[in-house]
Amino acid sequence: MRQQIVAGNWKMNNDLAQTETLITNLKNQVKTSKAEVMIAPTFTNLWQAYQTLKDTDIEVIAQNMHFAANGAYTGEISASMLKSVGVKTVILGHSERREYFGETDEILAKKVDAALANELRVIFCFGEVLADRKSGNHEAVVESQIKNALFHLEASAFKNIVLAYEPVWAIGTGETASPEQAQDMHAFIRKTLSNKYGADVANSVSILYGGSVKPNNAQEIFGKPDVDGGLIGGAALNADDFFAIVNAF
Ligand code: PGA
Repeated sequence: MRQQIVAGNWKMNNDLAQTETLITNLKNQVKTSKAEVMIAPTFTNLWQAYQTLKDTDIEVIAQNMHFAANGAYTGEISASMLKSVGVKTVILGHSERREYFGETDEILAKKVDAALANELRVIFCFGEVLADRKSGNHEAVVESQIKNALFHLEASAFKNIVLAYEPVWAIGTGETASPEQAQDMHAFIRKTLSNKYGADVANSVSILYGGSVKPNNAQEIFGKPDVDGGLIGGAALNADDFFAIVNAF
């Protein structure tokens, strides 16, 4: 059975004190689902979050990293730096990174390689913008994002890759893909993987949905057969809401 995952992407929210408060609230929540639970605080709070949560089943993950091992890349963070503060998983390719920071498929392929070479697990994000959805181009866009950044990898690399389909038009907008739209796209993604790597790989990779997942819609979305969990933005900033989503499985 595929691993179910609920990951909270805090984005650029919460200073040190706010991180401590939210983490304390998260620690007090009872998890009833078998889903793996992850939170991604900002870089400056990773160490503190890791220290506070290391004996719990909440994993602390990173929102981004650079592809280089070290060097003259002002403002950037490397895979080994993340590992040194307890991080084992990194989100790559979030649409906000692509849109505001110019991350291309080519850059993302290098980041994926660097993460895997450092034994980090990757949550690889992709998704179409509204114009692509409206013009019926959404599958072609998603297929090219996946191919360009991941299809140079060996099949065995997919043990350490989680996919996150996040339609850009649904992120932070309050508008979600319908459960059927999510299921259709997730099935298409699995077919794309299967064509390249075979059914075993395709059926073993967890595919998360992201984009305005809330306590009131999580159960229906997670109930779809090819949806293995969620990448949660806004609702991850409230411990009760986040755990209501975790427990929606
Ligand atoms: P949202 O963000 O839940 O606030 O829509 C999702 C994401 O960006 O991962």
